[in-house]
This record gives sequence, structure tokens and C-alpha cells, in this order.
Amino acid sequence: MWQGFQFSKRVERLASSPIHDAAAKSKVLRSTGKDIINLAVAVPEFTYTADLERKTHEAMQQATMNFGAVEGEPDAINAVIQKFERENGLKYAADQVIICNGGKEVLSDAVQVLVDEGDEVILFAPFWPSYLQFILREGGKPVIITPTAPDFRITPEQLEKAITPRTKWFIFNNPQNPCGVVYKSQEIAAFAAVIAKHKHVAVMADECFELFSYQPYKLASFASFPRMMDRTFTVNGIGKSYGKPGLRIGYGAGPKLLIDKMKVLQSSGPTHANTPGQAAAAVMLSEVGQAHVPELCAALKINRDYMISAINSIPGFQCHIPESGYFAFPNVTNVLPSTELQIYFLEQGVMCLDGKHCGLEGHLRFAYTQPLPVLEQAIMRMKQAVAALKN
Ligand SMILES: Cc1ncc(COP(=O)(O)O)c(C=O)c1O
Repeated sequence: MWQGFQFSKRVERLASSPIHDAAAKSKVLRSTGKDIINLAVAVPEFTYTADLERKTHEAMQQATMNFGAVEGEPDAINAVIQKFERENGLKYAADQVIICNGGKEVLSDAVQVLVDEGDEVILFAPFWPSYLQFILREGGKPVIITPTAPDFRITPEQLEKAITPRTKWFIFNNPQNPCGVVYKSQEIAAFAAVIAKHKHVAVMADECFELFSYQPYKLASFASFPRMMDRTFTVNGIGKSYGKPGLRIGYGAGPKLLIDKMKVLQSSGPTHANTPGQAAAAVMLSEVGQAHVPELCAALKINRDYMISAINSIPGFQCHIPESGYFAFPNVTNVLPSTELQIYFLEQGVMCLDGKHCGLEGHLRFAYTQPLPVLEQAIMRMKQAVAALKN
């Protein structure tokens, strides 16, 4: 009976997440006996101390299974406030914080409460594919700024040019997935100076990749720049920093008026984020929860160094060295269009993500979170596949 139904314009504008599609496809292919190395999806392997694991599980067991507060449980809200103050120098009151089911829902809701049909949202390419869907779903117009430099850096002049009277949000993902750019203080100050001139533009600072840096640095949060606190919604989550995306806990902090609208939205949707996840997040966000990070970044750096140099040794591939994150994002235009190459590599047993989903065709995204022998095997398959193209 559903065949003749007219589905909503809103859902017809959407495409499903290419990352979750890739995960599902790789499962299906594996179940048919095909040997697939999945480098499209990434969750780094975290090792916590036994103490942290125990505390987290205890907290989850004790969490209420009754309804909680729409904005989040007091312990979790408190842990978020302390995290922002301790690690980002940002002071928020309890009514300036919201906890949702994953960073994804925080970002999606923030777009939903501000964007109407025809409103514009600025994005730096390459971007995390979901942003585009959040904007399109509302009938908004993504205004994509494409880098001209091989290191993917966008200039304040490019940002200035992209702003129009219809601009609602500037989404600033720093560190940037998937290209691994980390904008430093001076660069962010220049972006903030542009934003300061345009009073109607709000900033969504997605700092979910904050902890994954290969140089010792402290992230300069966008909201910490002069006159930006009141303009910025800062987003983070435990999926990335603590390797627990299945708990689906993300959080955001910003002006109370924005949080109030997001609360209205949340109360008529999921009601609140799941309470066991919030209890676990409250433990993880405490200071003791940070101990795993330097070790994890050191291990990821070994993978990064191997992966980038191996990818650059594939004839026709050019890959900039990422400063953060866990993705290689080479330009492959000298070999084949990225869409064709992604399909060809899948046939050869390596799954990756076509850069077109990140707003930058001609590139492929490879996660390098898996153990080195797996990455070596993937590189060998790709090298052989590219060599075979020439024959
Ligand atoms: C840049 C970026 N922001 C936010 C998220 C949301 O993560 P989660 O919903 O798992 O907290 C992701 C997930 O991949 C991401 O890549």
C-alpha cells in the first residue's frame, strides 16, 4: 500500500548517511564470503583503566530508568560545565547546556531550530557528510567554501565572501573531519573578526575531534575569542573523545535562548538523551577520564605516518599530512574520478568513502584506526589495483 504514498518533502530531500551505508554494505559483503577491509568507518580502539571501566559501568547501573530532565541529568550537565571550564576556558551556567543522543543530534537540532526554507548555512569543504543532510532537510541552502590550497586551509576572505543576509549558521568544525586541519589561535581570531562584523550570523563550533592532535597543542575554542561567546554554540561528545559512539551522548553549550528552543524540540522528539549514557558520560568527562588520550594519539600517529607515506607511494595519489583525526584524504584525480575509484577499490576488497559526500570530489577518505597489518594489506590491494589499471 505504501507505493502510492507521497512521502514528505522533508524526507525526500534527504539521503541516508554514506558512512552508515558503507558499514551495512561491508557487513553484507562479508556475510557472502567476500573479504572486505572496511576503511570507510572508524572507531579507534581505546583502552581505559580497569578503574574507569568499573566506575562507568557502576554509574550506568545506578542510572534512573524513569524519565529524566529534558536538557539532561544534573550530574551530566555539571560534568559538561566543568569540562568546558577546565579544558576550554569557557564558563557556562546550567541553563546554557543541553545533552542529546549523540553529537549528531545536538548539531542536527541546532540547525533545525534556526534554519527555514532558503536560509543559508556556511560549511568548509571537505566536511562530515551529515551536516549537509541537516541543512537540506530544513530546505536550507548549504554554502560550501572549497579550499584552493592543497593543505585545505580556508582564508578569512573566503569566509567573508560567503556571508549573505540569508546566512544563519557558520559551521566551524575544528579540528576538521576528514582532512585533519587544525586552525590555530591566530587563524581563528581572523575568522572571528569576520563574524563579528555580521551580527546576524551564529557559529556552530563542532569540536568533537578536539583530543586527536598529533602535535602538543591546546584547542582554542571559537567561543573564547572576543565577542564570540554570545554568538557561538559549542558542540562536543563522548563518541569521539572516549571511543563510545554507541552510548549516543553529545552535548552543546551556548546562549540560553538557543538552548531553550532546543529543549522545546527535544521535548517533542526523543524527550531526553538516554539516562545510562548520561551517567557514563558524567564519569568519563571527569578529569580521571582523560588519562587514555596521549597513549591513543601516540598509537594513531604511528598509523598516520605509515598510512600517509604508503598512500603517497601509490602512483597518482597525493595526500596531505593531517594534523589531527584519523583519516587520510588523498587527491586521486590523476588516477580515476573518485566515484569510479571507490567502486573499483570495493571490488578489490577495500572499502573507503568517496570525497564527493564530503563536498570534495576527486578525493577518497580512508580511516587508519585499524591495526597496522590490516592497513598494510589494504595498501597492497590498492597498489595492485592501481597498477592493473595501467595494463
Ligand atoms: C565532525 C563530527 N562531528 C560530530 C559527529 C557526531 O558524533 P556522535 O553523534 O557519534 O557523537 C561526528 C561523527 O562522526 C563527526 O565526524
